[in-house]
Amino acid sequence: MNALAQPGNQKAINTSTTVLIGAQWGDEGKGKWIDSLAAEAELVVRYQGGNNAGHTLYVNGKKIVLHQLPSGIFHDGQVSALAAGVVVNPAQLVIEMERAAEFGVTLHPSRLWLSGRAHVITPWHIYLDEQRESRSHGAIGTTKRGIGPTYSDKASRSGLRLGHFVNETSRKRWLQQMRELHPEFTKVLHDRHEAWVAFEAAATRLAPFVTDAEAKIRTAVAAGKKVLLEGAQGALLDIDHGTYPFVTSSTTGSAGACQSIGLAPRHIGACIGIAKGYVTRVGAGPFPTELHDEVGKSLAAKGQEFGATTGRPRRVGWLDAVALRYVVDVNGLSGVILNKMDILTGLKEVKIAVAYRHPTEGELTTMPWDTEVLEQCQPVYVTLPGWSEEIPRSGKIADLPAAARQFVAEVERHIGAPVMMVGTGPNRGDALYR
Ligand code: IMP
Repeated sequence: MNALAQPGNQKAINTSTTVLIGAQWGDEGKGKWIDSLAAEAELVVRYQGGNNAGHTLYVNGKKIVLHQLPSGIFHDGQVSALAAGVVVNPAQLVIEMERAAEFGVTLHPSRLWLSGRAHVITPWHIYLDEQRESRSHGAIGTTKRGIGPTYSDKASRSGLRLGHFVNETSRKRWLQQMRELHPEFTKVLHDRHEAWVAFEAAATRLAPFVTDAEAKIRTAVAAGKKVLLEGAQGALLDIDHGTYPFVTSSTTGSAGACQSIGLAPRHIGACIGIAKGYVTRVGAGPFPTELHDEVGKSLAAKGQEFGATTGRPRRVGWLDAVALRYVVDVNGLSGVILNKMDILTGLKEVKIAVAYRHPTEGELTTMPWDTEVLEQCQPVYVTLPGWSEEIPRSGKIADLPAAARQFVAEVERHIGAPVMMVGTGPNRGDALYR
């Protein structure tokens, strides 16, 4: 039986539009879940972020990492869309379309809708991101994919929309404007010649796919189609509700899906968050449960915690139920998928942070808004016995070893939301259900 149709998940599927988000700092393993839940969807929409994301999928045993394309493209007959809130690196998108073709996926404009409203990442934006990150102060640890500068230009109303990018006259007009606005722009055009050539070449390839994606998505929703709205990054990297300034530049939370598409919130049936049984973070920023010991190292090694986009080692720590409860509240999560539980197997004991201790504010049971306060917090843990029995790859959550069941129950108790599914391995079928 398919994941969305599990009896225990009835509450989550009472309408046909579901939002799936990362419930931590990204890299929760969303790709696999989106891919398997997408099997039931007729339309899969990416609603924010750009090629800073990396979704790793295994298709017929072969690994593919998608940065820009929605994972739905691997399902026959399904439509994939990038909505207005996404930023697109055109050359990267073309590379992925070609890679998908190697996997036997033929993309046709009827199956891939690219929003004309989405903003375009150019070599100029990548240059700006690199410049900012190379300063000794104020580096965020970005992926250097030009994400922040592209969203900045969008907000300052000097960005390039995809619909204008694929139109030669508008694209040239934009390039001319940028030359006039920024003295350095001409130098970057010259120095990054190859990147600009690939950028220009992508316009012709992408043009047939650019459309009023949002209108089409609304029509699909109105027609009762099963729609999956796929978030990238994680809720704690949200520009407003994340650990600012150590965040990405878009609205990663569930509400971002509505804004990106121009879809009324009343159409959203369920919001599901994906969390790992522990936490990872790449880049700078507070991380109260971060581990610097052997346990952290072994989790990182066993969980292969290296960024799918940049290859950077991820910081690793215990599951933070304070942060996860905050994410449940902010995003109205109907439930949580607890991924990579198999990585915890073999530990003598496992911990969950249930509060923070701050040097002057005392014990905090909610996530502080101030990132500097969070930076000074120490976690207050509950410690539970670990388990050494292998976790079954498939079946029911009830089939977990007793100690692992206790862990799941404790997580549910502290986050105030049900654990709907548990991830037990990298493949689509590696999952336990209620
Ligand atoms: P940016 O999105 O490249 O601007 O990076 C801003 C922050 O978000 C940095 O801490 C990145 O490491 C983090 N980030 C961006 N994309 C991802 C992702 O897909 N997974 C995890 N972290 C990410």
